[in-house]
Amino acid sequence: MNGFHFKNNQWMADGVALSKIADKVGTPAYVYSLSAFEDRFKEIDQAYRSVPHLVAYSLKANGNLSVVNALAKLGCGADVVSGGELFKARSAGVPASKIIFAGVGKTDEEIAYALHEGIRYFNVESIPEILAINEVAARMKKTAPIAIRFNPDVDPHTHHYITTGKKETKFGVFLGDVDKVIKVVRQSRSIQWTGVHAHIGSQMTQTAPVGRAAKVVEKLVLQLRKEGFPIHTVNLGGGYGIDYKGEKPPKASQYAALVLPVIKRLNATLVLEPGRFISGNSGVLLSKVTYVKQSGSKTFYILDSGMGELIRPSLYEAYHRIAPAQGPQAPKQVVDVVGPICESGDFFAKGRKLPLMKRGDLVVVFSAGAYGSVMGSTYNARPLPPEVVVRGSRFAVARERQTWEDLVQNERIVV
Ligand code: LLP
Repeated sequence: MNGFHFKNNQWMADGVALSKIADKVGTPAYVYSLSAFEDRFKEIDQAYRSVPHLVAYSLKANGNLSVVNALAKLGCGADVVSGGELFKARSAGVPASKIIFAGVGKTDEEIAYALHEGIRYFNVESIPEILAINEVAARMKKTAPIAIRFNPDVDPHTHHYITTGKKETKFGVFLGDVDKVIKVVRQSRSIQWTGVHAHIGSQMTQTAPVGRAAKVVEKLVLQLRKEGFPIHTVNLGGGYGIDYKGEKPPKASQYAALVLPVIKRLNATLVLEPGRFISGNSGVLLSKVTYVKQSGSKTFYILDSGMGELIRPSLYEAYHRIAPAQGPQAPKQVVDVVGPICESGDFFAKGRKLPLMKRGDLVVVFSAGAYGSVMGSTYNARPLPPEVVVRGSRFAVARERQTWEDLVQNERIVV
């Protein structure tokens, strides 16, 4: 069985009991099911098989090299937003021809590195960026392929922190500026404009906004082709939501039903940048109860991990399912699940009904495969946890736990 399931009174990752991983590796630890990642990739890939397409997995969600390598072996590409992510994608074996470089703040050094590698194209977010890419490409005597990200002003109906396609956000070029963009691209000799990009938000749980964005893009592509630009790539970003707490997110095929007709009418190549859809429920954070603390009428489960390992609850009040790794699962008491960090915002759940637990019990925090480890910090000088990958009945440490020595290795006492 793939992914995480409860069997013989304990939570398993594929064929391995999480308690076995904790015994060997300690806690906290991230645990990833490689086959879960692969199955989710295949679901999207299959949904779009009737058109030329590239699934460019968004490394920002989870850039673990073993994970990215497993996806690359299935033909998956990469969506990167920094020189570091580009380096990671290449280190994981993603061919440059399947890498797309996005982000609002690419530096000249990052642009030069991407051109040197020969990536598929840049997703460009502003007119100053067009000018910068043109300049760097000219200096390197290269032509830079670009897709321009337009802001379709579509509300994805998700958390406002992860809404990106409304006109008041910093992302993409304002649709009303298309004429200005055309003028700038015409004057930029080292740019080749071949694609249009739109990404409207993350953790979407409805298909309609994607359909609306696809329609806006279709109109734009037709307009640009009339202007003489050979636009053959339509990039509709990522954003497909997952089940955190019982949402019923659409299947990939339900998005495809809205997108495919547009791509077929345009006779274009589709690029998608899913992150969370592939990774979110393919990983968990494995932790341990350090103390059960009673304070007046309140009960706290204080874990050995917190906002340094998984910041989503603190940052977005995000909901993550939590369960004991072993034993009875029936909810018995209302508790706050908190971390060891000196911030009152350091919590995983407040007022959650959970089974009785005691010091030393193992805890699973679910849906931690996306925007978990990648957003980790060492605040309070707490080393980053290891990342463990599971394949069937085997598991291995794919990223080592940091040590206290690691925390000081780049420092020196200079006065
Ligand atoms: N493409 C672009 C241009 C993006 O900005 C993003 C995510 C993606 C693709 C991938 O989106 P996904 O398929 O994973 O929804 N830290 C937040 C999420 C931030 C999303 C940023 N952009 C969270 O933990 O919910």
